[in-house]
Amino acid sequence: MSMMNGPSSRLFFFFMVILSTFLFLQITGIQAQVGLLPPNEVDALRQIAKQLGKVDWNFSLNPCDGNPNWRSPWGNNAQYSNVVNCTCSSGDVCHVVYISLKGQDLAGVLPPSLAKLPSIKIIDLSYNYLSGNIPNEWESTNLEKLSVTGNRLNGSIPTFLGNITTLGYLGLENNMFSGKVPAELGKLKNLNRLVLTANNLTGKLPVELNSLTNLTELYAHCTLPS
Ligand SMILES: *[C@@H]1O[C@H](CO)[C@@H](O)[C@H](O)[C@H]1NC(C)=O
Ligand SMILES: *[C@@H]1O[C@H](CO)[C@@H](O)[C@H](O)[C@H]1NC(C)=O
Ligand SMILES: *[C@@H]1O[C@H](CO)[C@@H](O)[C@H](O)[C@H]1NC(C)=O
Ligand SMILES: *[C@@H]1O[C@H](CO)[C@@H](O)[C@H](O)[C@H]1NC(C)=O
Ligand SMILES: *[C@@H]1O[C@H](CO)[C@@H](O)[C@H](O)[C@H]1NC(C)=O
Ligand SMILES: *[C@@H]1O[C@H](CO)[C@@H](O)[C@H](O)[C@H]1NC(C)=O
Repeated sequence: MSMMNGPSSRLFFFFMVILSTFLFLQITGIQAQVGLLPPNEVDALRQIAKQLGKVDWNFSLNPCDGNPNWRSPWGNNAQYSNVVNCTCSSGDVCHVVYISLKGQDLAGVLPPSLAKLPSIKIIDLSYNYLSGNIPNEWESTNLEKLSVTGNRLNGSIPTFLGNITTLGYLGLENNMFSGKVPAELGKLKNLNRLVLTANNLTGKLPVELNSLTNLTELYAHCTLPS
């Protein structure tokens, strides 16, 4: 007669199965979550890549662990950058806060899917060949810096930009924006720096910009008044 017979051994076996399943889930669960983006943000990055025409993001690598595919070393090259930066709360779940892709010959459009990144604060897509205009979807973001210097953007400067009241920096220079500077920009109470130089803008600057008390730099020498 063995000790491992009868109901008590079955109970012991059952207990061990439960315990090992629990430990397995704990370990793999933790490993799968450390420093990772939620799946919807990874999807958003895939869409953003497609919309921009960026083909070299490697989705087998973690966008948030600082590897050089997603975050090339910080340099002081004003004309080139290749950086995605995340914020990770208590070491597990991350969110994209910063995307800077300068001088990469990107020839797509400004990505509407940027608005699917709930924590995005800074977007810099300067010195590419992006066309179209700023997508309406961006109105729902809390962007603090928006720079699209030196692209092929055209049409009017969208009035909804005045609703992104978190903006401190708005750089639209060296594009083909046309029409008047919208009065709605006067609602950007946190704006420090507004750069509109070298577009095809017409008319006077709106008086509403006078209410931008935090504005320290305004560059707007565009076309001659007609
Ligand atoms: C993406 O990264 C994985 C993991 O390091 C690597 O095996 C693969 O070759 C990379 N893919 C490309 C296209 O570089
Ligand atoms: C990038 O992320 C790291 C860690 O999250 C942070 O310390 C650093 O300040 C960030 N840099 C920028 C420019 O956002
Ligand atoms: C913007 O440029 C595109 C070509 O890239 C053109 O089809 C479109 O008509 C232009 N829109 C405006 C408002 O100028
Ligand atoms: C800005 O937001 C206000 C209030 O939510 C809304 O009524 C208005 O239509 C928005 N403006 C634009 C240009 O989208
Ligand atoms: C503007 O700047 C002042 C002082 O620099 C700061 O206290 C304030 O919070 C800023 N924002 C607004 C909306 O005035
Ligand atoms: C600039 O705008 C004017 C009309 O305001 C238009 O005739 C001209 O073609 C535009 N130039 C460019 C380069 O888009």
